[in-house]
Amino acid sequence: MMFIMSIVTRLLGSDDLDEAVSILHKGGLVVFPTETVYGLGANAFDEAAVRRIFVAKDRPADNPLIVHLASFSLLERTVRELPDMAWKLMEAFWPGPLTLVLPASDRVAPSVKAGLNTVGVRWPAEELALRLLERCPFPLAAPSANRSGRPSPTSFESAWEEMNGRVEAILHGPSCSVGLESTVVGFEGGKPLIFRPGGVSREWIEDVLGVRVGEASESRASPGTRHPHYRPSCSVRAWSGIPAFAASPGDWVLTLQRGLELPEVRVLTFDTVEEYARELYRTFFQAEREGVGTLWCELPPETGVGQALRDRILRAVTVL
Ligand code: TXA
Ligand code: MG
Repeated sequence: MMFIMSIVTRLLGSDDLDEAVSILHKGGLVVFPTETVYGLGANAFDEAAVRRIFVAKDRPADNPLIVHLASFSLLERTVRELPDMAWKLMEAFWPGPLTLVLPASDRVAPSVKAGLNTVGVRWPAEELALRLLERCPFPLAAPSANRSGRPSPTSFESAWEEMNGRVEAILHGPSCSVGLESTVVGFEGGKPLIFRPGGVSREWIEDVLGVRVGEASESRASPGTRHPHYRPSCSVRAWSGIPAFAASPGDWVLTLQRGLELPEVRVLTFDTVEEYARELYRTFFQAEREGVGTLWCELPPETGVGQALRDRILRAVTVL
């Protein structure tokens, strides 16, 4: 879809939340920080406003949006049912990086659901997001604030780079503390399924529910995962074990292995999987700016947030 850059984007700070709400009230788009990634928000009950999200992102219309809220009264107006398992997960992980896919109410704008009868809902934890949501008399539909297919912004700077000229306002918040998107959990035939791994790990969810949690066959359950994702303009390659690959001078190597030294490449070492997760997209944006040829990303172990990190690295890989 061709996009005409015609919108003047305002930079708003934490003192301008009333202005942000007023823009949203009028059907405008406001980018805001969350603990996972920056979101591109619109009134989730306003179909015309929600449609503008798809234009701003060049997003395929078959990819549903997550609805953000910070009150039980708005939750009641957004979903039709709250199964017991959903309650348990809400109690354990909200506010936080968990999205629950539940039967949608009639109030939710059709484009949010992208043809499904369910809606993904999330009560985020980031302070500025909460202050904004508490002032809104409606929930906010918000995908990640990147152009479709690109990495999600985890800092104000990269959100501005992605969305300046496409939205009415961008809220200046802190860098995201999780750095990868939320875990998306749905229920099929009463059984919990992970549609997308994220900031809340499978083990934690299984601990709370006391049952095994399956993984949805992706394209069926979560339409968004069908589309190419998280790709920076430089090439991304994955590796594990011994770094026995042929990097070119100027490439970057991302690793959890302390003390790794390689000739002619820049080695970025992360002390923990959490730090690696927090820094992945920021590193993608920085590597693009600096014209890096290839990013060699070590795959982390498949536990905790490592599941989501592996998923995002493998989706960003351009050459296998
Ligand atoms: O952390 C996050 O989740 C961020 C922040 C802004 O909250 N948002 C985000 O949104 O990652 P987005 O649009 O980039 O990804 C939403 C994912 C997609 O994979 C989509 O298919 C899935 O959630 N999803 C949304 N609603 C769904 C539904 N009703 N059924 C199945 N999957 C759904
Ligand atoms: Mg996204």
